Amino acid sequence: MSLTRFIKDLLRKPESIPTPGAIFYNATVAKVLRQPETKIANDIVARMGKGTVLDLGSGTGYLSIEIARRAPGLQVYGVDLSRQMVKIARRHGRGVDNAQFVFANAAKLPFRDNSIDLVISTGASHHWKTPRLVFAECYRVIKTGGEAWIYDGCPEVFSNPANSRKLNKEYGFLIGRLGYRVSTLHGFSGEEYQTEIKGMLEQTAFKGNYQMALTDIWMKITLKKRQ
Ligand SMILES: C[S@@+](CC[C@H](N)C(=O)[O-])C[C@H]1O[C@@H](n2cnc3c(N)ncnc32)[C@H](O)[C@@H]1O
Repeated sequence: MSLTRFIKDLLRKPESIPTPGAIFYNATVAKVLRQPETKIANDIVARMGKGTVLDLGSGTGYLSIEIARRAPGLQVYGVDLSRQMVKIARRHGRGVDNAQFVFANAAKLPFRDNSIDLVISTGASHHWKTPRLVFAECYRVIKTGGEAWIYDGCPEVFSNPANSRKLNKEYGFLIGRLGYRVSTLHGFSGEEYQTEIKGMLEQTAFKGNYQMALTDIWMKITLKKRQ
């Protein structure tokens, strides 16, 4: 087994980030991801001004809170399996009444059928122990015609030299130079997306109704619940 594979497996072992990891993440990675996540927040509020958004693995809450701040007509829920992450997100979200954080497993969501307009997730899917159940839950809670936007790491984003230069210029050293290594450890390779993830999606109710595309620093999977 390669060292990268070993570290990757080790990092994926705990599904929810343990307390020290959550505190470290809040002080480091969450800050680095603010710029690309601000772009996602802008995309979402440009598309919808009212309705419900559900953020799976909301972590320290930055993305959920940014969406809620920008669009007071939206109700944003963040769910996370780490109690410490939920605590941090609630602290960050004080005063933003349309962002709520819930301790829950994305594989067993405490939301009614057909109640959510858009499900989003950033950097969390590689942690899911039962992704098939998470996709089934997404399908159940999303309203007919709604979508899920699942963003996670993919090193191929950084292996194209022109794109890598662009990201380095836009986001600076941490993302531009370390992005390849970080997304190798925190995400899936292009091949894994095309084989394992695709194979799994083909066995869900989203069969045939999804797209994968390299977008900014992420692989974005768009899942559609058809009419
Ligand atoms: C790498 S963090 C990403 C956090 C945040 N989305 C961001 O972009 O900064 C992944 C988060 O997903 C959470 N998580 C992992 N598996 C989960 C699950 N099955 N249900 C809910 N949260 C989960 C972890 O506890 C962690 O907070």
